[in-house]
Amino acid sequence: MLNTNHIECDAKAIQLYDENYSEKYREFDQKYVTTPDYEHFAPIIKYLSKSFEDEIRVLEVGCGTGRYFHVLENTCELTGIDISEHMLKLAEKPVRSTEVDIPMINLVKGSIFDHDFGNQKYDFIYSIGVLGEHVPLTLDVSQKIYNMLNDGGCFFFTVVDIDDRKNMKRKLAETAYPFLPATVKQILDKRWESNYFTKKELFDHMIEGPFESFKIKNYKASESGWVGAHHECFAYKMMNSTKTYFE
Ligand SMILES: C[S@@+](CC[C@H](N)C(=O)[O-])C[C@H]1O[C@@H](n2cnc3c(N)ncnc32)[C@H](O)[C@@H]1O
Repeated sequence: MLNTNHIECDAKAIQLYDENYSEKYREFDQKYVTTPDYEHFAPIIKYLSKSFEDEIRVLEVGCGTGRYFHVLENTCELTGIDISEHMLKLAEKPVRSTEVDIPMINLVKGSIFDHDFGNQKYDFIYSIGVLGEHVPLTLDVSQKIYNMLNDGGCFFFTVVDIDDRKNMKRKLAETAYPFLPATVKQILDKRWESNYFTKKELFDHMIEGPFESFKIKNYKASESGWVGAHHECFAYKMMNSTKTYFE
């Protein structure tokens, strides 16, 4: 069951990413850039930012310590929003800061759910390890991000693949679920409420949502840091196109 209530999640994220945890995250940044996970995500961000003809305006949702700022190309302005003041403070000196080539960087403290971006528009929006992980990816947030994209714009994001995290006990309980009494189902529904997605849930979310075109892939982390798998989604705003899904 997908969680749709972001308020508690926002509060938990603020609590988790306190000064101490943010410092630890920054310490791990040094190791992270040597891992296969960095080798996976950095080229995607680089490639997508380079794929536009003109210079682009970029938004990173949950930018943390600014791990990927240095791989952005072709970028005249970057906005990073994060709910944690401590992570954002560290993003003032992002990872590999000497390689960052962006004339204007705006760091904004706030939640993607509540922050009012006014009439700001972006060509490329990305979010890694935030939506469908710390906070729910709701249809409202998908619509908000879609509205902030220019036509032809791209939204790249990850969500946690819940199937990769299920143990045998959970899988057995899911098999038995249709035969269980309603009261037990209610208890399990509550217990299983999560921000994480199955591939089908993400697919259904994207079909129901506003993006005209999208592609979903799966990436299993290398176990050099966070353990598990993410679905990663490339979604495009193409006003004059019918909905397309690329396998
Ligand atoms: C796992 S970290 C990922 C940081 C960065 N994207 C990266 O890949 O290194 C999750 C980040 O999401 C931020 N976050 C959590 N909830 C948020 C929200 N509602 N709005 C904006 N940022 C949020 C946290 O403060 C944290 O910095």
